[in-house]
Amino acid sequence: IRAADLKQIAVEGQPGLATYDPGFVNTSSCRSAITYIDGEAGILEYRGYPIEQLAESSTYLEVAYLLLNGELPTTDQLAEWTHEVTYHTFVHENLKQFIQGFRYDAHPMAMLMAGVSALSTFYPEAVQIDDAENRQLQITRMIAKMPTLGAFAFRHQQGKPYVYPDNGLSYAANFLAMLFKMSEPEYKADPRLVQALEVLFILHADHEQNASANAVRAVGSTEVDPYSAVAAGIAALYGPLHGGANEAVLRMLRRIGSTDNIPGFIEGVKAGKERLMGFGHRVYKNYDPRATIIKKACDDVFEVTGVNPLLKIAQELEKIALEDEYFVSRKLYPNVDFYSGLIYEALEFPPEMFTVLFAIPRTSGWLAQWSELITDPEQKIARPKQIYTGHRTRQFVPIGQR
Ligand code: ACO
Repeated sequence: IRAADLKQIAVEGQPGLATYDPGFVNTSSCRSAITYIDGEAGILEYRGYPIEQLAESSTYLEVAYLLLNGELPTTDQLAEWTHEVTYHTFVHENLKQFIQGFRYDAHPMAMLMAGVSALSTFYPEAVQIDDAENRQLQITRMIAKMPTLGAFAFRHQQGKPYVYPDNGLSYAANFLAMLFKMSEPEYKADPRLVQALEVLFILHADHEQNASANAVRAVGSTEVDPYSAVAAGIAALYGPLHGGANEAVLRMLRRIGSTDNIPGFIEGVKAGKERLMGFGHRVYKNYDPRATIIKKACDDVFEVTGVNPLLKIAQELEKIALEDEYFVSRKLYPNVDFYSGLIYEALEFPPEMFTVLFAIPRTSGWLAQWSELITDPEQKIARPKQIYTGHRTRQFVPIGQR
């Protein structure tokens, strides 16, 4: 804790000192053994395993198991976990009708949030959070059903019939099939695209106490069912400051339009007219390790789909910024969002699906955080203090005399 960053303010009428820390930038809300970040060194580890090794050698379901259980699965454990998740991919037909009730132009993230929230009505036993077996069942259901709900929301927005899960496919391949199958009856996702999505899912699975994990923990601390807690996480991720930056990067690259326009754009950024989207991070003051991995995935995807001209602008922009004193002195490096939007676009996702693509894998992180909270005897209901700045006791004035 950097004591100099804390403003300790005596609260009138209360003994001792209270810490005033808007945004909780210096307040630890929990002890956690899930994700380790060293922002200065550019390190990200899940349960002690470097993100680079996980992205290189594991699958998303393996990583989800690791986050949720603390250890990598054995062959038998992974087979059982994959079977369990696959078994639960379908959603109740009434939930399909529930999604169908939304306006044609509803945002898929809003539909996903409502869908997850609605799941709690289908599984009322989910409130029994003291029962470990019951918790595990709800966790499995949610990991399994998120891609189905996300795909239904996408198809609804496109005005296309829903595609049911194909349980013969992997987690990522099944998701792609539910999104794109019927529009191209012959659709079979290229294994390189499936692998790229798998890597993106791994990179987005957890990021310790970010805004949405904090929302899941705050709501979960009331001992509500896990569907409601995760719906709160989705709500937090829906906000542009959390989940929306990759879309902003694409808009920025389109606006720049050509590598010739980069120097003029950079001058505008340095003059404070706008920010270089996809650069800088609250925690990483070095290259975001996820950005390095995504850059590699970009090459693999564009090998299949053909190069997006915006990639050239992004690469040139990065090269210029990394050599510029303004960015170097402020430790501004590309973050995970700088290249992810380009990949999503190459995979033919419309921009409003980008946050859904974030929410699906982050569900394993949210549920790992939720499980840790529920089983931690030190945890209490999340209820911060305030520094009251309003009036003190006043006499009520009848409406005719105000
Ligand atoms: N472009 C230009 N200048 C920047 C940028 C940027 N992207 N980011 C920070 N700066 C500058 C600020 O103007 C400030 O300069 P000053 O000291 O001269 O005033 C300095 O760097 C520090 O900036 P802060 O805003 O204090 O840094 P903070 O840690 O609060 O912000 C943030 C982090 C919000 C991510 C910021 O870097 C930003 O806005 N980046 C662009 C948006 C973005 O890519 N967001 C995605 C983050 S990753 C994620 O959420 C998954």
